[in-house]
Amino acid sequence: MEVINKIADLKVKVQSLKSAGKTIGLVPTMGALHRGHASLVERSVKENDVTIVSVFVNPTQFNDKNDLANYPRTFEADRDLLSSLGATIMFAPTAEEVYPEPDTRTFSYPPTDTVMEGAFRPGHFNGVCQIVSKLFEFTQPTHAYFGEKDFQQIAVIRAMAAEHFPGLNISPCPIVRENDGLALSSRNTLLAADERQIAPNIYKALKASVNYAKNHTVEETKQWTIDEINAVKGLEVQYYEIVDAATLASIKDWKDAEHVQGCITVFCGKTPIRLIDNINYK
Ligand code: PAF
Repeated sequence: MEVINKIADLKVKVQSLKSAGKTIGLVPTMGALHRGHASLVERSVKENDVTIVSVFVNPTQFNDKNDLANYPRTFEADRDLLSSLGATIMFAPTAEEVYPEPDTRTFSYPPTDTVMEGAFRPGHFNGVCQIVSKLFEFTQPTHAYFGEKDFQQIAVIRAMAAEHFPGLNISPCPIVRENDGLALSSRNTLLAADERQIAPNIYKALKASVNYAKNHTVEETKQWTIDEINAVKGLEVQYYEIVDAATLASIKDWKDAEHVQGCITVFCGKTPIRLIDNINYK
């Protein structure tokens, strides 16, 4: 596996791969890689001639300076894991390399990017679109792989790709969970032992809510799920929305959308650590 830090070097490499007719899979990450990321890389390696994995903690998508400073960084372990998974290139640029000057581009895809994470983290999805569009441009992938834990992010990236990169396949990959149900996330390493103990209650409630939903309205199901989680000492729901899986708009009736997803953000512990998860209802 080759580690590339400079955009110019990456572009030269991509050009020669493209000229040789190779298909390119891109897995964008912020590092601190876990089995969830590994599943994306494995799928890309299976489906493409070449897999490029970017490892870059993107400053423009953080609206909280502490969150950016505390984001876990594990470069050596990431490099070793990617090499063992058969990735072709690890692209690990500095922030100065990616943003030699401020990125003033704006992306807007309401309601997909304005609800939920969009409402609670202003500017977050604009930053995601800035970096992902740059990565798409640098690497010219055939397929790009994203984890469904960030369900809303995939919808926003789909909208951005449809506008700027028609023909590029956005491939969503299922959430990978710990045995106790906790969705894998780089942020899980920030959980203290007692926080790690209570965090699986989020998925437990989401799963139970699918059963509850069979005999209850959308509003009742939403409130029941929030109450179940808030009843656990140390967990506090920031939002729970039951939405049309395509547009991310909230629904009132189960019949309002063909596919329905519940998307949640929960504060866990004293720090607190912000955990997100989601579940499919139909
Ligand atoms: O999901 C992430 O890790 C990030 O939002 C992404 C897509 C790598 C962009 O920085």
